[in-house]
Amino acid sequence: MIEIAPSILSADFARLGEQAEAAVAGGATVLHVDIMDGHFVPNLTIGPPVVACLRKVCGVPFDCHLMIERPDEFIPAFAASGANWISVHQEACVHLDRTLHLIESQGCKPGVVINPATPINTLDEILPLVHHVLVMSVNPGFGGQSFIRSSLRKIERLAKTREDRRLQFRIEVDGGVHDDTVQDIVRAGAEILVAGSAVFGQGDPRENTRHLLASALRGTEQTVQDFSLVK
Ligand code: DX5
Ligand code: ZN
Repeated sequence: MIEIAPSILSADFARLGEQAEAAVAGGATVLHVDIMDGHFVPNLTIGPPVVACLRKVCGVPFDCHLMIERPDEFIPAFAASGANWISVHQEACVHLDRTLHLIESQGCKPGVVINPATPINTLDEILPLVHHVLVMSVNPGFGGQSFIRSSLRKIERLAKTREDRRLQFRIEVDGGVHDDTVQDIVRAGAEILVAGSAVFGQGDPRENTRHLLASALRGTEQTVQDFSLVK
């Protein structure tokens, strides 16, 4: 099932609730919340109080993407504030297995994230534990960057691994998801599409979401392409 997960990073923070609701009215079924600490990534965003405020006005699952060091210290607070899915970076977790179990113990769906430079085989041991794998298709920290095309091969390999090992995790992609990239992304095997600037950058978030979802769904109707040719 293809889902659009608008990233509020590109929203107007003075009108966050209204913008989130508009994206949901356009067909978004998950809200992607980017949490940055100024250490793991060179940017700062929001913490649990903002998540708790959004929770009151928005009913879809919250997908909290933690781009922070020492995530174990903050996972309980995000869970209490209304997060439904919590993902942590493989690169930020020395004891990744423990962190994923901690997320689950807090009543949330555990996810793991990999940066563009991190190979998917670093996840071999923990794939059975996760609800979703988030493949970064930009270097994390900022919205509005260009899609890194080598991510397509990672998504494809991940989908193959899931099939070979008969696992259930979902495949999510984050960064540079726009009209001109989304069809290749879904053909590679991603199902949850995070989109910041494509939804909140210009125009109406409701129409933008609707448009992106329609493009993505058209992509699923097309034949699979050979990404071994992608440089
Ligand atoms: C980047 C964030 C993304 C970001 C994507 O570190 O994780 O969620 O909002 O923005 P776009 O869709 O503009 O590339
Ligand atoms: Zn994100």
